[in-house]
Amino acid sequence: MPDPTLQISPSILSADFANLERELARIADADWAHVDVMDNHFVPNLTLGQPVVEALVKVSPIPIDAHLMIEDPDRWAPGYAEAGARSVTFHIEAVRDPVATARAIRAAGARAAFALKPGTPFAPYEELLHEVDMVLVMTVEPGFGGQAFMADQMPKVAQVREAVRRRGGEIWVQVDGGVSADTIGQCVEAGADVFVAGSAVYGAEDVPARIGQLRDLARTHRCG
Ligand code: DX5
Ligand code: ZN
Repeated sequence: MPDPTLQISPSILSADFANLERELARIADADWAHVDVMDNHFVPNLTLGQPVVEALVKVSPIPIDAHLMIEDPDRWAPGYAEAGARSVTFHIEAVRDPVATARAIRAAGARAAFALKPGTPFAPYEELLHEVDMVLVMTVEPGFGGQAFMADQMPKVAQVREAVRRRGGEIWVQVDGGVSADTIGQCVEAGADVFVAGSAVYGAEDVPARIGQLRDLARTHRCG
């Protein structure tokens, strides 16, 4: 049974881009399909944009979790919600007006989230918690899949979790980058509840089994 408080969001960045419909079908057991939008400006990599997200929404068996690594999300982020992404995350380093941007995403019917790069502290943005549904703590420098997990981000995850607890309400804490069977436990223990995994999922021989394994490990660490 999927546990709504421990969710797996495989990143299609590590999937076969020539066969995205088939690649989405392989992760039908997950909670979200994480789609990394990169513009070659905010990060030194270029992936896909709104028309492709719109096409993915139509064929995806699970909701789309759009992670926007782009400049000027104030202008572009609401369009991803309108395209049908059910969660839209913008980077706090790129946004000018996070409150207006989060409200526009929500008004378009999606959950809103802000992301923090490894070098970005959480404390200055704590007041934004009442405007969002999730905070993404990056556990690699954004831009590429397959990088090594940064365990030094765990105190930030714990800090966000503690702020959420103090404030109350249902705000998810997502981790993204280097999440695998080896590292998911420390993410759970720090307080994360949504786990993005790209290479760990699509690099597995049996993709559904890997998703199940990550879910089981997360559950074990929460109970342990
Ligand atoms: C990196 C992306 C991640 C990436 C994670 O900038 O935001 O979503 O796909 O890939 P892994 O899990 O391989 O680190
Ligand atoms: Zn991502």
